Amino acid sequence: MTPKAQQEIENADVVVGYKTYVALVQNLIKSTAEVVSGTMGREVDRAKIAVTKALENKNVVVVSSGDPGVYGMAGLVLEVAAAEEAPVPVEIVPGVTAATAAASKLGAPLVSDFAVISLSDLLTPWGLIEKRLRAAAEADFSIVLYNPQSEGRKEPLIKAYEILLKHRSSSTPVGVVRQAGRHGEQSVITTLDRLLDCEIDMVTTIIVGNSKTKVLGGRMVSPRGYNLSC
Ligand SMILES: C[S@@+](CC[C@H](N)C(=O)[O-])C[C@H]1O[C@@H](n2cnc3c(N)ncnc32)[C@H](O)[C@@H]1O
Repeated sequence: MTPKAQQEIENADVVVGYKTYVALVQNLIKSTAEVVSGTMGREVDRAKIAVTKALENKNVVVVSSGDPGVYGMAGLVLEVAAAEEAPVPVEIVPGVTAATAAASKLGAPLVSDFAVISLSDLLTPWGLIEKRLRAAAEADFSIVLYNPQSEGRKEPLIKAYEILLKHRSSSTPVGVVRQAGRHGEQSVITTLDRLLDCEIDMVTTIIVGNSKTKVLGGRMVSPRGYNLSC
């Protein structure tokens, strides 16, 4: 969380969000604030409530995890606000996204070009996700995988693993980070061929190195190409 995000939550008249995320910031919400929290899958309803409350001149905060502009609520809130006849002022407050939070735990795997791909096919067709995986793997990007796998959704990660292995050496360093920056944080550096042996769930971010990524003193580094001898 950035200091600005913390300040906005502390000043909010209304806090709206997925219940797990609201629980994470509960201690920042003032006692007089109205809290609208709910389940996964009700994002459109929550965005509409937020916009309605903002039109009542309330100071509304919509909470996402990490950065609201990275697989978060920022886009949906702007879409819902644009559908209103009256202008709704919306400010997007940046946060620390899982990609960079996870990278910092692993070392420096993203200091060169990288691609970010979500393996959730809830809102994006799987065919398109596969196309993006192939393109990013072929182009030798370091690849960050969000939404990698849940209890009932294991197939996407297996398919992603097979695609990546077609384009990258089995010894490519891979970092797996759970609960980055939160209680219970875990991080592991392994190799691509052993990726599926790791504990991976929906609070995990995976970073697959590029062809130059190496492990130095236990840290994952994707060199930018500096010449160390001069
Ligand atoms: C819907 S996306 C939300 C991303 C979020 N807006 C962000 O910027 O980090 C959810 C995915 O983000 C990743 N994620 C979110 N928080 C995480 C954390 N603390 N540690 C590791 N991965 C996390 C996981 O891959 C999770 O499945």
